[in-house]
Amino acid sequence: MAANNGKPEVKEPTLTYENYLNIEKLLSCLQLRCPKFGKYEHDEHLFITMHQAYELWFRQMIFEVDSIRDILRERPLDETKMLSVNNRTDRIILILKLLLGHLSVLETMFPMSFFNFRDYLSPASGFQSAQFRVFENKVGIKPDDRIQYMKDEYVSQCNPDKQKDILDAVDEETLFQIVERWLEQTHGLEEDGFNFWKRFGEKVEERLKDIKAREEVADADHKPGLKKDFDACKDIFHKVLTEDEYKKLLARKEVRLSHKALQGALMISFYRNETRLQQSFQFLTKLIDVDAYMNKWRYNHLLMVHRMIGAKPGTGGSSGYHYLKATISDKYRIFLDLFNLANYYLPQAFVPELTYNMKAFLSPTGNPN
Ligand code: HEM
Repeated sequence: MAANNGKPEVKEPTLTYENYLNIEKLLSCLQLRCPKFGKYEHDEHLFITMHQAYELWFRQMIFEVDSIRDILRERPLDETKMLSVNNRTDRIILILKLLLGHLSVLETMFPMSFFNFRDYLSPASGFQSAQFRVFENKVGIKPDDRIQYMKDEYVSQCNPDKQKDILDAVDEETLFQIVERWLEQTHGLEEDGFNFWKRFGEKVEERLKDIKAREEVADADHKPGLKKDFDACKDIFHKVLTEDEYKKLLARKEVRLSHKALQGALMISFYRNETRLQQSFQFLTKLIDVDAYMNKWRYNHLLMVHRMIGAKPGTGGSSGYHYLKATISDKYRIFLDLFNLANYYLPQAFVPELTYNMKAFLSPTGNPN
């Protein structure tokens, strides 16, 4: 007998697929609620499996968002870690795509089958998923932007022991806020340096003059289109070029990013081919995807709910279809400003040229000429 302070040594069980992954415990989580009566409860099996699978993926996405936030919060930011940031953001996008696909599997259930067990799950509802709320909050949905659910705060619908996690996720710096701070620090925005915004403003003027000049010589067929183009461009740029005008957009909640952060995002987009901005540009593109897939899920879930229960109230007590329809809104578009960047793009010929020093900074290994 091996000596272990006089006690017999306890032998760890050999690691197997079953015990490493805790399969028995995992599979025991599926407990059908609907008493058996003939064939009709069959689909409850899929219904529960589907929700449990969602919760596992929610946990994975929260894990990835936390790690992305940790990396981006570091000061100074280690640029070599941007590859990991992009890789993990990609993973979130792929999981969100997968979750969209899960809905199609659930849609193989006929609404009539759902009705055979729906009574047994009331008043439970996906609305009470604490992990879904934690994920939304960590990415950056603002509490004020949420559609009111009955007369209660959404948090009060979740388990009391999970409510702190949901509220903490709002109080911590959200991914949106961290991205905003990161963009504000984009090298090249400094007024006593490259001063991107001043150069951009000058190029906008040139661009407007160019459209105007083309309008003046255009034939009758093309004139109205160019005039429309000119007026739209002038209006869009006027609202964004000066900080005071931009503050009005912020106050009206038409934009969320700070003025400086918007400048950073535009600069990264214009000079995306430069070595040091490539990963940053890809990250901005992926944030657009995260936003898009979160909202595609909302919409596809809404369509599924409509076909399953029509416009009747949900088991969680909301108006169901009408409540969910109200969440298909720009209020739930966390990175809306990144979509709107396309408003401010200029043709390449009007993009401010990089100075020798900026070019050398952004593409250190390239030929600055
Ligand atoms: C037959 C399938 C489903 C039906 C009929 C359904 C129905 C509903 C309804 C009516 C609501 C509004 C709240 C309420 O009054 O209950 C809701 C919310 C919600 N459901 Fe589903 N659901 C289904 C499947 C799922 C699945 C598979 C998930 C995945 C976790 C899910 C997650 C959610 C979430 C997160 C909300 C809150 C959305 C928000 O407030 O923005 N649901 N669902």
